[in-house]
Amino acid sequence: MDKLQMPANFLWGSASAAYQIEGAYQEDGKGLSNWDEFVKLPGKTYQNSTGEVAVDHYHRFKEDVALMAEMGLKTYRFSISWARLFPQGRGEVNQAGLAFYENLIAECLAYGIEPMVTLYHWDIPQALEEAYGGWESPQVIQDYLDYAHFLFQHFKDKVNYWITINEQNIFTTFGWMTALHPPGKLQQEKLFYQVNHHVFLAHAQAVIAFKEIMPNGKIGASFAYSPSYALDCDPKNAMSKLDFDDLKNFWWMDVYAYGRYPKSAYQHLAKKGVAPVVSEADSELLVKAASKIDFMGVNYYQTTVCEYNPLDGVASTGEMNTTGKKGTNQISGVPGIYKNPTNPYLKTTDWDWTIDPMGLRYACKEITSRYNLPIIISENGLGAFDELTADHHIHDDYRIDYLAQHIKELMIAVEEGSDIWAYCTWSFTDLLSWLNGYQKRYGFVYVDRSESGGSLDRYKKDSFYWYKEVIASNGQSI
Ligand code: BG6
Repeated sequence: MDKLQMPANFLWGSASAAYQIEGAYQEDGKGLSNWDEFVKLPGKTYQNSTGEVAVDHYHRFKEDVALMAEMGLKTYRFSISWARLFPQGRGEVNQAGLAFYENLIAECLAYGIEPMVTLYHWDIPQALEEAYGGWESPQVIQDYLDYAHFLFQHFKDKVNYWITINEQNIFTTFGWMTALHPPGKLQQEKLFYQVNHHVFLAHAQAVIAFKEIMPNGKIGASFAYSPSYALDCDPKNAMSKLDFDDLKNFWWMDVYAYGRYPKSAYQHLAKKGVAPVVSEADSELLVKAASKIDFMGVNYYQTTVCEYNPLDGVASTGEMNTTGKKGTNQISGVPGIYKNPTNPYLKTTDWDWTIDPMGLRYACKEITSRYNLPIIISENGLGAFDELTADHHIHDDYRIDYLAQHIKELMIAVEEGSDIWAYCTWSFTDLLSWLNGYQKRYGFVYVDRSESGGSLDRYKKDSFYWYKEVIASNGQSI
């Protein structure tokens, strides 16, 4: 067999999010976000860690981008803090906040690094939370659109790749179902679906506006896709997989790609009285936007197993391992539909996430067959404990192995017909993991900081040099 190839213009990249790296949470006129407030509540995050300083990217972005250039990164995906730009969520733009992103983008472009901008990576201005409950109100749609519109206009000649929303499925599930993220609401199912509907409409408005401003630009949403496997060929388990996919995967991807909700899932939720209200105008808007997206953004970390869950079965949303103590995750499930047992064929990380490189190929093939859309892998990576040696090295061969296995599968997906434009690892530097603090590290660049602080100095890990080779050889070095 010939060696596997990536397309010549393939975008090898890495990703981050504003709250997790920037810090400077009150500087230069930045407004507060929901996360700035949420982390103040005791016990919400690992050892009460916050992004107030994060890894100080706000002040060190030149050093960070220089490291990206040294590595040869083709694209850098980062998010914009809405509250840094619009402290009140709307109205007057904060010029100092805007200058930060102008400088960051200019720095990327000076090195030939393609900026990939995420408009919303979970930090909504607190002012909008207080004004009308943030995503719970349809008012947010116009404010999000105005924010997006401003950025499209301002950066239309500089930024070609845009992501409207990061992991809508995760931030809404954690925000309104499991109470792990702001606004910290538990099992508010009806509200959860209504909130999601508002996010879909905001995304759709932005996509349509974007295509008027940048007809040749590329836009899509990033979905946290966890492909599912049926436990076995027991029809009950096969059915639970099908229902799981409709409720947990296609519920989002079908709207982005087709502009409609999966029928049987909608019917099920309508019977329960929790389905979102969808007007004819909403449907038209969603379908129109779906016809205009350029790619499906995929954040891929793990796969799921589905098993039938009897009516008196597992009802838990699952306790999450946020400490890195293996084996502390709990099984989650919805009685009468599915539960998600562990996969005996796969190893797990210290945070109990399954490691499944082939699942990435599965995800790409599923999207290719179901939606026939190009794909951007907007996140993939390994959260691990890293050790800084006395002479400032980090021998993260486990991360190299993880990434190599995933990239190999991605190359097979390309060979098998998927049109994949980019692969962004999570993350470039170490950063704050929302619920797991600073000890769960993902970067190619080690940042000397822990929950209690640190010098914030940067050190290149072994994986840094390894990925540099991968990029230089367009994947052939693996
Ligand atoms: C994704 C998010 O869910 O996964 C990132 O888009 C996040 O922001 C990443 O950091 C890894 O998750 P975690 O919980 O390990 O930080």
